Amino acid sequence: MSSHRKAPPSCAIVIFGANGDLTKRLIVPALYNLARGGMLPERLALIGVDHNDKTAEQWRDGLRDFLAQTLAKSGESIDDKLWAPIAQDMIFLKGDFEKDETYSRLSQCLQDIDGKKNLGGNVLFYLAVADRFFGTIAGKLGEAGLVRETDGRFRRLIVEKPFGHDLESAKALNACLLRHLKEEQIYRIDHFLGKETVQNIMALRFANGLFEPIWNRDRIDHVQITVAESIGTEGRGNFYEKTGALRDMVPNHLFQLVAMTAMEPPVSFDAEAIRAKKAEMFRAVHPLGLGDVVRGQYDSGLIGGQQVAAYRKEENVAPDSNVETFVAMRLLIDNWRWAGVPFYLRTGKRLAARSTEIAIRFKRAPYALFRETPVEELDADWLILRVQPDESIRLRFNAKRPGPTMALESVAMDFKYKDWFQQAPAVGYETLIYDCLTGDATLFQRADQVEAAWGVVEPVLESWADTPPRHFPNYGAGSEGPTAANDLLARDGRTWRAIK
Ligand SMILES: NC(=O)c1ccc[n+]([C@@H]2O[C@H](COP(=O)([O-])OP(=O)(O)OC[C@H]3O[C@@H](n4cnc5c(N)ncnc54)[C@H](OP(=O)(O)O)[C@@H]3O)[C@@H](O)[C@H]2O)c1
Repeated sequence: MSSHRKAPPSCAIVIFGANGDLTKRLIVPALYNLARGGMLPERLALIGVDHNDKTAEQWRDGLRDFLAQTLAKSGESIDDKLWAPIAQDMIFLKGDFEKDETYSRLSQCLQDIDGKKNLGGNVLFYLAVADRFFGTIAGKLGEAGLVRETDGRFRRLIVEKPFGHDLESAKALNACLLRHLKEEQIYRIDHFLGKETVQNIMALRFANGLFEPIWNRDRIDHVQITVAESIGTEGRGNFYEKTGALRDMVPNHLFQLVAMTAMEPPVSFDAEAIRAKKAEMFRAVHPLGLGDVVRGQYDSGLIGGQQVAAYRKEENVAPDSNVETFVAMRLLIDNWRWAGVPFYLRTGKRLAARSTEIAIRFKRAPYALFRETPVEELDADWLILRVQPDESIRLRFNAKRPGPTMALESVAMDFKYKDWFQQAPAVGYETLIYDCLTGDATLFQRADQVEAAWGVVEPVLESWADTPPRHFPNYGAGSEGPTAANDLLARDGRTWRAIK
C-alpha cells in the first residue's frame, strides 16, 4: 500500500483465464481506473491465455463492450484516451493451461513483445482461474523458466482465492508455489484488502494519537465483526456445496478484518513489518473449541418482501445438504493487548441485509454521576467501521437530551467516505494490482499467514466432518441467523448488533 503515487515499471501482464468472469468484471475495469489516475505502467502489454477460441481483436472488443456497459450504468462512456494504453498491445494466446506448448508459445510471445516495446523483461502473471489450476500453472511457468528473475527484471504471480480448502491443502499449495517461485514473487489476493475502509483501519489506528491508546483490553469490552449477505448462492450451488460459509469467508476475509483490527503496531509501513505483525496475531489466537462456533443453514423466507427458497432447494444443491451457509464464532486472542476481549465473528447468506462492519464496543462508564438514569437507557460507546454497503465510520456515545432534566441519549458522529472525499470510481482491485506492479506486498497474504489462519479453523472443520448438523435448516431467509448464534453471546451477557 504505497504512500507515494509512482508509475509502475513498464511490464507485460499475462492473464490466465482471459475469457473468464474475473477478467472482464474486475481486472480490466481496475486497469481502466488505474489509467484514469495515471497509475498504469508507462509501457504495457496485456496477454490473455485461455482455451476459448478468440482472436486478439475479439478479446479486446469484448472487454471494451463489457466495460462500456458497466460505465453506462453510472452514466459514463469510455474515454478512449484511457482505454488506448490498455488496448494498444493486447495479445490473445489460445492454449490449454495444462499443456507445455502453451508455455513455450507464451515464452516466445513475451520475448517478441519485449523486443517491440522494451518492457524490461518484467512480467506479472495473473492467475484468474479456478484454484485447481494454481499449482499446475505455477509449475509449468517454473519449468519453462518464465518466473526466473534475472538482470533486475521482475516476475510476479498473483494468485486468486481460494487458497486451499484446509490446512493440508494450503500447505501443499504453498509448497508447490515455493518450489518454483520465491515468497517475494507471490501475491496472494484477498479482495477484502482492496477495500478503502479496510485499508483505512490502519490509518485510523496508527495515524491518530486518539485511538491507539484506547485500543486494548482496558477500554474495549468486545469486538463484533459481521459480513452479512442477503443473496443466496446465485446459481453457484456447485461451488458452494464444496465450500460452505466457513471455508469461503472465515480464514480469508473475516480473519483479514480481525488482523487489521487486532494486530500490534508495526515498526514501519514496510510490507514485511506489517505482515509479520499479522502472522504474530494469528499465532496468539486461542484454539477454538466446539462451543465457540455455531453453524447454520437458511430455510425459505422473505427478503425485501420477496419469498426466497431454502438453501436445499437452490440449483445444484443436494436436497439433504448439510453445508453451512452461516457461521458465527467467538475468538480469543491470547496476548497482552486483547486478553479477555472476545472477538465475535459472523457471516452468512440470506441474512436480513447486506452489511459488512467491524463494531468495537467500549467499556461502560461508571454510573456514579447518573444514578437516576435507568441503566438500560444508557448504551455503551461504539466505534463502527462500515465496509459495505456504505463506507463510513460512526462513533456512538451518550449525550444529554436538551431540557431541564439530565436525560441521556445515545447519539452518533458520522464520517462518510463519499461525502468527505471526491471518490474516484473503483472496483476494489485497483490498489491490489497497482501494489503488485510496484512490488508492495503489504496487502497480500504471506504463506505463514495463510497457514496460520487455516490452522485456527482446522479443528472446527475436522469436528464438523465427524458430526453432521442435526437441525438444518435452522434460520429463515431474511432473519439474523440461527438462535444458537444469539446464545453464543448471551452466555457472555452480550447481544449482537442488528444486521441492517
Ligand atoms: N468472478 C469473480 O467475481 C471472482 C471474484 C473473486 C475471486 N474470483 C476468483 O478468480 C478466479 C477466476 O474466477 P472466474 O470466475 O473468472 O472463473 P472463470 O469465469 O471460470 O474463468 C476461467 C477461464 O479459464 C478458462 N479455462 C478453464 N480451463 C482452462 C484450461 N485448462 N486451459 C485454458 N483455459 C481454461 C475458462 O474457460 P471455460 O469457462 O470456457 O472453460 C474461463 O474462460 C477463481 O479463482 C475465483 O475464485 C472470482
